[in-house]
Amino acid sequence: MQQIRATVATEFELVNQLIVEQLQSDVPMVENVGHYIVDAGGKRLRPLLVLLSAAALGDCSPSHIKFAAVIEFIHTATLLHDDVVDISELRRGRPTANAEFGNAPSVLVGDFLYTRAFQLMVQLADMDILAHMADTTNTIAEGEVLQLVRAGRPDTTETQYLDVITRKTAILFAAACYGAATVSAADESTRQTLHGFGLNLGIAFQIVDDVLDYEGDPVAMGKNVGDDLAEGKATLPLIHAMREGTETERELIRTAIAQKDASRIDDIVAAVRRCGSLAYASEQAKQYHDRALALLMQLPAGKSRTALENITHLSIHRDH
Ligand code: IPE
Ligand code: IPE
Ligand code: MG
Ligand code: MG
Repeated sequence: MQQIRATVATEFELVNQLIVEQLQSDVPMVENVGHYIVDAGGKRLRPLLVLLSAAALGDCSPSHIKFAAVIEFIHTATLLHDDVVDISELRRGRPTANAEFGNAPSVLVGDFLYTRAFQLMVQLADMDILAHMADTTNTIAEGEVLQLVRAGRPDTTETQYLDVITRKTAILFAAACYGAATVSAADESTRQTLHGFGLNLGIAFQIVDDVLDYEGDPVAMGKNVGDDLAEGKATLPLIHAMREGTETERELIRTAIAQKDASRIDDIVAAVRRCGSLAYASEQAKQYHDRALALLMQLPAGKSRTALENITHLSIHRDH
């Protein structure tokens, strides 16, 4: 990651400065909650995708830096909201904002970050970007609602699962890359290539996130494992295990999802492992990773494209 950031070190620093600057508000609670989550860091993967996509197409302009901050603000807003909805307690190695300040401040400061992102976007004065990001954020909201509706439903299919993760996660990765190409005034085919790259990368990234929810180390991840089960989320490892497992294993998982009950997580992890479900999900992630890489090869070769290749690789080989 350090090496990837070094490729766009100056621009990355400017993005981080802009993020902090744009948290400014005369309402102290906005700044408190905003800084609380922003200062905890995070991988800053999405702004890096903006900067590296721009660099791969030629140069990284002040507008790209602004757009990168926009993307990270939207991401951060979704995290604040997501942790309320998921009743999560740990994020970026700290108690979640909802655990620290309560649900209401998390939701409202999430709204502040969302709307601040749009204020910043207006400064870009690019109708294509504005339209694309309006659609993107709308789709993310739909994705989270769709996930909520499907929670507690063991009959969720792999197609339905992919639909949810495409909307809630991958679409923002795609928008980061597509938007960078738009700011660069790249032709439509290049924009679509980058959009496809981001989309496949985002799907791979979320599948791995869902695998880590069963086999990850909470200290490395900075968030708890087992949250998905407690929320009754039928993620890919469970969908596979219900398909391939014995009748007893199937019933165990179905009941846990339907009752949103993580008390038998140890038995479920054992079943998921016995069925090879984590390996299966990882293999699916690898396939999206491969598609992302194939699209990337259509961009001009160089150190920025190599850094994008490395991000793609890291997205499926990671512990946090
Ligand atoms: C977390 O995203 C939300 C998902 C889409 C899984 P990240 O893993 O990129 O979170 P941070 O920004 O690094 O904390
Ligand atoms: C990603 O889903 C949420 C968003 C894209 C907002 P998760 O619920 O799996 O993300 P984590 O695991 O809480 O980071
Ligand atoms: Mg969550
Ligand atoms: Mg998760």
